[in-house]
Amino acid sequence: MFITFEGGEGTGKTTLIQNVATILRKRHQVITSREPGGSMIAEAIRDIILNPKYKGVTPYTEALLLAAARAQHLDEVIIPALKDHKIVLCDRYIDSSLAYQAYARNLGYKFVLSINHYATLNMPDLTFYIDLDPKVGISRIANRDKYDRLDQETFDFHEKVREGYLEIANMYSTRIVTIDGNQSIDEITNQIVKKIEEKI
Ligand code: TYD
Repeated sequence: MFITFEGGEGTGKTTLIQNVATILRKRHQVITSREPGGSMIAEAIRDIILNPKYKGVTPYTEALLLAAARAQHLDEVIIPALKDHKIVLCDRYIDSSLAYQAYARNLGYKFVLSINHYATLNMPDLTFYIDLDPKVGISRIANRDKYDRLDQETFDFHEKVREGYLEIANMYSTRIVTIDGNQSIDEITNQIVKKIEEKI
């Protein structure tokens, strides 16, 4: 089963995924991964996408690099794990490209879906979107010593990302479960585990 986690900056996805994996591992075979990245080649592409030293990356290039990293990650990690009947928990996937590149960067859903054709053939079974006001999310990451190129975007950009996610959650309402990100990590973990167990 392929499960993805989505949300803006500072929504606590990384901790959540670890918590959910720990619980599910008592009864299932689980792997965790992340995008952009998740395999050696995809992590190399991630560096070009996120390293602030490449600040000249344009929106189309960014979208294409993300799609390339995703294709590599699918072939090397996700598809083999699904063939082995493992549960795959992935931090971000195609909905990130729809919210950030299609919506917030204005490239449009049609273009982003077309360059992600391979990913559209391998859609998640279930997606958790952690919804949080970017004011709260950004303040949570404010004391990190390292910011990537996208963390450094304007506040308006992060507001648009949230608007995009809400629209996408509406578009794919049978796949995407929206979770209120203001709750405690434990509350969110329990809700997510319950939904996954129901789906299994
Ligand atoms: P990361 O440090 O993993 O962010 P987070 O901890 O918030 O998940 O950085 C990933 C960044 O890349 C994040 O700002 C979102 C962005 N991104 C896109 O813009 N499009 C995509 O398709 C993906 C996968 C990520």
